[in-house]
Amino acid sequence: MKKMIAMMPLLASVLFAQVNEKIEVPYVAFPVKMGKGFEAVQANCLMCHSFGYILNQGRQSRKFWRGKVDKMIIHFKAPIDEKSAKIVTEYLFEHYGNGKEK
Ligand code: HEC
Repeated sequence: MKKMIAMMPLLASVLFAQVNEKIEVPYVAFPVKMGKGFEAVQANCLMCHSFGYILNQGRQSRKFWRGKVDKMIIHFKAPIDEKSAKIVTEYLFEHYGNGKEK
């Protein structure tokens, strides 16, 4: 117990440790692919989260992308009409697709 108490100031000093060096936050560029339909993604998908959420999924099938668009509409109440949903799915499948329909 005494040892624990002796350790306290040490632990506290760690909590208040300060960094004198300049901290640089790395710049991470999203490799967003421009192209037909991108405006629809910008207008319908980026109001709630960044493009990172989409890119993180990796290359996927058309069915997968359509499923994600539907999930946004059904579960998260994204106000996306059918026409835009189709355009977005098309864009995602073309640029982030794996060539498979299902
Ligand atoms: C109304 C807000 C909203 C809109 C608009 C929206 N999303 Fe999402 N999206 C969310 C939320 C909430 C999550 C879940 C966040 C979490 O789990 O941390 C999410 C997560 C995701 C994910 C991560 C995978 C997953 O299944 O959770 C993908 C991919 C995605 N969205 C794609 C899209 C696409 C494509 C569009 C445009 C068609 C879109 N989102 C529009 C709210 C939205």
